[in-house]
Amino acid sequence: GTRVVSTIAELRGLLAEQRAGGSSVALVPTMGALHDGHFALVRRARELADVVVVSVFVNPLQFGPGEDLDRYPRTLDADVTALAGYGVEFVFAPSADVMYPAGQVETTIAAGHIGTLYEGASRPGHFDGMLTVVAKLLNIVQPDVVEFGQKDAQQVFLVSRMLREFDVPTIVDVVPTVREADGLALSSRNRYLDPSQRAAALTLSEALRAADAAAGDGLAEVLAEGAAAFGDHDDVTLDYLVVVDPQTFLPLGDDATGDAVVLVAARVGSTRLIDNATISLG
Ligand code: PAJ
Repeated sequence: GTRVVSTIAELRGLLAEQRAGGSSVALVPTMGALHDGHFALVRRARELADVVVVSVFVNPLQFGPGEDLDRYPRTLDADVTALAGYGVEFVFAPSADVMYPAGQVETTIAAGHIGTLYEGASRPGHFDGMLTVVAKLLNIVQPDVVEFGQKDAQQVFLVSRMLREFDVPTIVDVVPTVREADGLALSSRNRYLDPSQRAAALTLSEALRAADAAAGDGLAEVLAEGAAAFGDHDDVTLDYLVVVDPQTFLPLGDDATGDAVVLVAARVGSTRLIDNATISLG
């Protein structure tokens, strides 16, 4: 069955037993309110390792003042029931006290320049807090493989770089973005949307489709067509739409060709949504 573990010592003990028996371990870090995007990561973890650990922790360190930490959906019972259906061995669901006994940490991980751009510009400190909790989770679980979703492309870039630069031997496995039939990327925050906001939220994936369609005409067209998708809707406010180099995550210049990542973020009411797509610039 699925065992819910809330302390670090207990999880370490259970995983030591598993490893002694020769089992490999996969970690799927989440903040809960699980949906089919998360479950795609869980299925992949199930394929790649003998033992699957899913962490469910709404990390206060990665939320800024005025963000949705307090109202972030918490559905642990439903999450555990669903994860049992996927044959997950361990759900690690620590309290904030277990993760941050002193209330915070004095030692943090700085995400660097890229951590201040795009999501990082709109959410100062977000990526430092995210990398800090991911480093803690990796040290607690010491998995062979860790799963991340391409939905959060900047997060994937920063986590992969941290693991490389800090010589963490865990393999990062990246899972494609899971979408609703109409294109909306699944997100725990989608449950904040009322029906008219749900319709407006479609603008993000529409902008990415428009950007992709314009890719052959170059970067300026991509930006123009992507931004134009936001023209029709009053109830969605574009935060940023940028085209970045997949290798460096720096913005690409007008003459760029080849693979590029389009990052988009927008507000629908008080809900911030993000999405991205890889395109090939002509
Ligand atoms: P959370 O938003 O719960 O996402 C957990 C993982 O699920 C992330 O790797 C995210 O990219 C992936 N995911 C979310 N929606 C997805 C979708 N539609 N398709 C594919 N993957 C999707 O990201 C976090 O939590 C936190 O920052 C965390 C890494 C847990 C650190 O606190």
